[in-house]
Amino acid sequence: MKGVILAGGRGTRLQPLTEITNKHLLPVGREPMIWHPVRQLVGARITDILVVTSTHHMGAIVNSLGSGRRFGCQFTYRVQEEAGGIAHGLALARHFAAGEPIVVMLGDNVFEHAIAPFVDAFRVQERGARVLLKQVGDPERYGVAALDERTILAIEEKPQSPRSNFAVVGCYAYDREVFKVIDGIQPSARGELEITAVNNRYIERGELQYSIVEGRWTDAGTFESLREANALLLEIDNKIKP
Ligand code: DAU
Repeated sequence: MKGVILAGGRGTRLQPLTEITNKHLLPVGREPMIWHPVRQLVGARITDILVVTSTHHMGAIVNSLGSGRRFGCQFTYRVQEEAGGIAHGLALARHFAAGEPIVVMLGDNVFEHAIAPFVDAFRVQERGARVLLKQVGDPERYGVAALDERTILAIEEKPQSPRSNFAVVGCYAYDREVFKVIDGIQPSARGELEITAVNNRYIERGELQYSIVEGRWTDAGTFESLREANALLLEIDNKIKP
C-alpha cells in the first residue's frame, strides 16, 4: 500500500501568511503542518509516499521534507500546476500508485489519534474505498455523509441543509480503480474535481465503507481552524496517540 499527501491548493483563506510560505509549512504545535500526515502514514506502516504540491513554494516543501530519511520513509514529489481540486491532485498519483491501493491524506488535516486502525480496516477490505467520519458542529463546511445504520447513502459537499452532522474528513483509502473513477467525473459548480464526486461513485458501486474518527480532529485551512490545530498538537506535543 502506498500513501499520497495532497498539499496543493492556494491557501487563500490564510492570506497574508500564505504569501510567503506554503500553507502546509505553517506551524502546528512544534512542527510544520505537513509533518503530521507524514507521521500518520509512517505510523500506519506506509513508507512509500507521494507529495503533491503547487509550484508556489514547492522548493520550501522539499527543503522541509527532504528524501524522507528523517521520517523513515521515501518521498516522491509531483507538481499540481493549478488548484483543480482534490481529485485533480490525486490524479497525479496514477503512475506512482502503479496498481497498488492507496491512502490519501489532505495536508491540512490533523488528528489526535493514529489513523492506523482505519488503514488496517482497509487492508482487510478486499476492494472499494473507505472514508473516515467525524461528528462536527458545523457540517456545512465539509463533505457531509447521509447514513443509515450500516452504510453511507450519499455525500454532499458543503450542503446548505446538511442531512447529518457527520463530516467526511481528509483521509481516504482507495483500491486501484480510483483513477478510472476520477476519469469519469466532471468539475463541480466551483470548477473543481471534487473528492466527494469520487466517493459518491464508490457509493453507487456499493463499495464505500467507513470508520469513525477516534478523539479530536480538525482541518487547518482557516485562521480559526489553524488555531485549533495548533492548540491540539501543542497539547499532545505532536505525539500522535495510539
Ligand atoms: O478537511 C476535510 C474537507 O476537505 C472535506 O470534508 C471536504 O469534503 C473536502 O472537499 C475538503 O474541503 P475543503 O474545502 O476544506 O478543501 P480545501 O480546498 O481547503 O483543500 C484541502 C486540502 O486539499 C489542501 O490543504 C490541499 C489539498 N488540495 C486542495 C485543492 C483544492 C490540493 O492538493 N489541490 C487542490 O487543487
